[in-house]
Amino acid sequence: MIKLNRVGKIYNKDSANEYRALENIDFTVNDGEMVAIIGKSGAGKSTLLHVLACIDSYEEGEYYLDNLLIKNLNEKNLSHIRNSKIGIVMQDFALIDDFSCIENVMLPLDFAKVKRNVKLQKAMTALESVGMSQMAKKTVNRLSGGQKQRVAIARAIVNDPSVILTDEPTGALDTNNSAEIMSLFHLLHDKGCTMIIVTHDMEIAKQCERIIEITDGKIING
Ligand SMILES: Nc1ncnc2c1ncn2[C@@H]1O[C@H](COP(=O)(O)OP(=O)(O)OP(=O)(O)O)[C@@H](O)[C@H]1O
Ligand SMILES: [Mg+2]
Repeated sequence: MIKLNRVGKIYNKDSANEYRALENIDFTVNDGEMVAIIGKSGAGKSTLLHVLACIDSYEEGEYYLDNLLIKNLNEKNLSHIRNSKIGIVMQDFALIDDFSCIENVMLPLDFAKVKRNVKLQKAMTALESVGMSQMAKKTVNRLSGGQKQRVAIARAIVNDPSVILTDEPTGALDTNNSAEIMSLFHLLHDKGCTMIIVTHDMEIAKQCERIIEITDGKIING
């Protein structure tokens, strides 16, 4: 379960360019829920997702993930939590451009103590599920935006995370491809994953069980 209690995020705190990106964020997402986060550009959606993914710290309030307080943890603990529980698709994909698709998808498996063959197999299965297995050996910088998005999704799901966070997952896709990705998310949701989807597309948001709307770093709905 994800529980945020009056969470606030302040970039560059105590410096001249201090900026409050999140304020009093209070919500709970139960295991297996599918939730959309919507809001205008600059509202704080990506910031919120990065806090939830344990990539970014926060300055105020408390964030509990499965009853564990995510605060003041060292990098080793944080990376263990990220690798065991969380899959994230970043807005800019955050792929390594001169690695192949399969090498990118294998990255989160580097921490697991399993044989290379097993890692390859898991990465291939993840690529298959997003329809990218034929391009496994292709270098990422030769892919289209939509293809990169699929590889980023494959990387997010390769470790079988219980929580999947996605930032504009269909932003670079046409209607057909975006519907395919949404079916994949519905499948993951049916399997019991907790899904949090940041989107500006109301058609995508409406497919979720709940919509949280943020404006200027605050929840105004949901
Ligand atoms: N590293 C940073 N340092 C300072 N300010 C930042 C940083 N990252 C984001 N911000 C600011 O925080 C605010 C929220 O940014 P964020 O990226 O979370 O918005 P968003 O809702 O995801 O927007 P978009 O829909 O355009 O992706 C913006 O005003 C942004 O300029
Ligand atoms: Mg964003």
